[in-house]
Order: sequence, then structure tokens, then C-alpha cells
Amino acid sequence: MNNFSQAQEIVKKYNQEHLLKFYDNLNEEKKKILINQILETDFKQLSKLYSHINDIKDSKDEITPITYIDKSKLTNEELEKYMEKGKDVIKNNKYAVITMAGGQGTRLGHNGPKGTFMLGTTPDKSLFEIFCDKLKKIKEKYNVTIPWYLMTSKENNLETTKFFEKNNYFNYPKEAIKFFIQDEIPMIDKKGKVILTEDGLIKQAANGHGGVFESMFKSGIIENIKKKKIEWIFIGPVDNPLVQMTDELMIGIAVDKNVMAVGKSIVKANPEEKVGVFCNRNGRPSVIEYTEITKELSEMRDSKGELLYGESHINCNLFNIKAIEKIGTNKLPYHTAFKKATYMDENGKIVKPEEPNCYKFETFIFDAFEKLDNMQILRGKRKEEFAPVKNKEGTDSPETARKLYEEYYK
Ligand code: UTP
Repeated sequence: MNNFSQAQEIVKKYNQEHLLKFYDNLNEEKKKILINQILETDFKQLSKLYSHINDIKDSKDEITPITYIDKSKLTNEELEKYMEKGKDVIKNNKYAVITMAGGQGTRLGHNGPKGTFMLGTTPDKSLFEIFCDKLKKIKEKYNVTIPWYLMTSKENNLETTKFFEKNNYFNYPKEAIKFFIQDEIPMIDKKGKVILTEDGLIKQAANGHGGVFESMFKSGIIENIKKKKIEWIFIGPVDNPLVQMTDELMIGIAVDKNVMAVGKSIVKANPEEKVGVFCNRNGRPSVIEYTEITKELSEMRDSKGELLYGESHINCNLFNIKAIEKIGTNKLPYHTAFKKATYMDENGKIVKPEEPNCYKFETFIFDAFEKLDNMQILRGKRKEEFAPVKNKEGTDSPETARKLYEEYYK
């Protein structure tokens, strides 16, 4: 059976025949792409995800508060001890950074990869350049070149790599910067039908920041890291210019406590703030998303008046190489988001919806925490760590982030 007949059988079996309806209108190259997309799509998994979309979340998990180290309460001796241990790791070339830059950044609405967004500082710099500057400072300070890996998506990889080339890798050693592409998963509409792009191909979206582990293995990045004998890998987001690319304290604590990972937290501003919080789930480290926490849990306080679930997860986590190997390519669960996406309908018409119209499936990095034997939470200071660039305007926008960034670096 040839590829086309195989694809025909598949779409028939999974009730997705509309995918081949406009096949004849495509050019030869796109025909091939579409057929490959159909052959590579796990339709069984998609049907399963669709059938569970409206499931009520399992509330039988036992959620308890998590303990943490508070940076502001450390004594000078403790600080010094941890800092020294952290510096040793860096100076001995045992440290690398991964920046997750595969997100779509739909809320920001910037025309291009989020990392290319110019923050509006003086002098004006892109988020990528801001991060690279931090690595350059460490290079000067310790005379080491920290390997920098960037996770992109199929959608933004070319633009991202071109941006680095155009900017001469911000004068960081080119060979220390590597890109790897994360996986995608098709988007489906309310009826469970896979949607088509304006070009008549399957509409895919990056599979969430939890895809970082699987992609590290698939792309060979993990081999590259092991060859360099790197032991500690910081994984952080692209949309927060205050990310500490190299936090000696965090690294030193990881070494001293002999843990598999350290998660950076900041105090949740108020019970309603839209951030996930660290907790123990059935006795293991985890995060409850802001969409999943109950009002009761979010408002609980301890005897000192602090929120019991107040350690916000800011997507800045440090992993030992053994932790990443343990997480491996095991599939993380998919979470569902209802999004707005332009598509081609069953009559071949391009529809630009005003309201969310389709489901996107994403895995989250923190779902990997419970696979770890142990994890330390380190509470940092909000003004030193957190200036998210999420929305076009208002809270967590370029304007608020720029202010926080300039305030910190003043
Ligand atoms: P967000 O969860 O805020 O998603 O990403 P986003 O795609 O950037 O923005 P919206 O939701 O569409 O507006 C947090 C971090 O995780 C990365 C992002 O690039 C950002 O650094 N991320 C997210 C990925 O690398 N891949 C993904 O599939 C999703």
C-alpha cells in the first residue's frame, strides 16, 4: 500500500476524512508534507485526549505544603558556604543553561519568536540579548564559557536561528550555543476534528514546556551535555528578563543538600495571583496550577499569616543530569487549553475566529517533579527574579517587565 492509501485508511478509521478533502489542490511538496503529517500523527492519542477533555480533575491527590529555604533568612556563613560550592561547579565547567523558547507567545502578540522581542530598555535589547549578556558577564568573572542550549519549535526555529546569526550570536562563542526543536501535537476543534492551516496542512502547536525533556533526548542534546561532563542544568523561560541564568546560591544549595533538583520560588503576591504554586502531591514535589487550585487551599495561612501554598513556581529550575535521565522520555500528562486559531473550514474557507475555537494540548515541566527522589525549593526575592512578559498590555506586560528590569539593574 502506498503512503496516500495508508493516509486514507487512517483518516477514515479516525473519522478525520476532511483532512484529505483539499489534497488535490496542494502542490507536490505540500501533498508530501500532509501525507507525512497524517502518517506521523498519533490519532489514537488525540481521540483519547478529546474524550477526556471535560473530565473533572482527580481530587483524590493528597496535597500538603512544601518546605523551602528562604534566601533572605540565610546567615552570612550559610550564604558563603553555598556560594562557594556553586562557584566551584561553574568554574569546573559542570554547568549549562537551557532556555525554553518554543512557546507561541499568543498573549503577547509579537510578530516573531518571543526572545526576539525588544524590551525597550536603554540601550534597547531583545530578550535573547539580555540573557546572553548575563552569560557574558559570567564568562568575564570566572573565565568559563557556559554552554547555552535553546529549545525552539518547528514554527519559530528558523527565525530564531537567523536572529542569532544576524546578531553575530551577541559576540558569545558561537560553538557554545546550540538549538534544538521540540515536538508538536495537532490542534482539534470542539467536535474533535483536527484543524487545517490556511495552507491546507494539519495545524500543529508545540507540545508545551514539558516537552523539553523528550526533545533533549531526541535531538541528541543530552549526549552533548554528557560528553562535556556537565552535571547541573538550569532550565528557564525566555519571557522573564530577570531570570538568573547562573545563580551560584541555587547551584551551591543543590550540591550541599545532595538533591536531584532545585526549584526557585517567590512569594505569591496574593491568593488570586495567576501563578502555579509548589506543594507536595501524595508526598512528592509538585505544582498546582492556578487554574486547578481551590479557593480554600489558595487562602490557607500558617500561624505567621503566610500563605501555606504561597511558593510560586516561576519556571526557573535546576536539574542534576541524573534527574533528567530519570525523567527520560517518559510521557508527561497533557493539559488542555482552549485557544483562538485561524483555520480552513470543511468548505475550504479561511476562518479567523473572534473567540477561542480549538483545543491545544500541552505538557508542563513541573509534572516531571514527582518523578524525582527529592527536590529542594529555594525562595528568592521577587524583585530579583520575576519580571514576566506575558501580555501585550497591563499586568505582566513589556511595560511592567521593563520597569522591574531597570529597577533591578539600576
Ligand atoms: P507560556 O506558558 O507562558 O506560553 O510559556 P507562551 O507560549 O510563551 O505564551 P502564550 O501562552 O501563548 O501567551 C512559558 C515559557 O515556556 C516556553 C515559553 O517559550 C516560555 O519561555 N514554552 C512554552 C516552550 O518553550 N514551549 C511550549 O510549547 C510552551
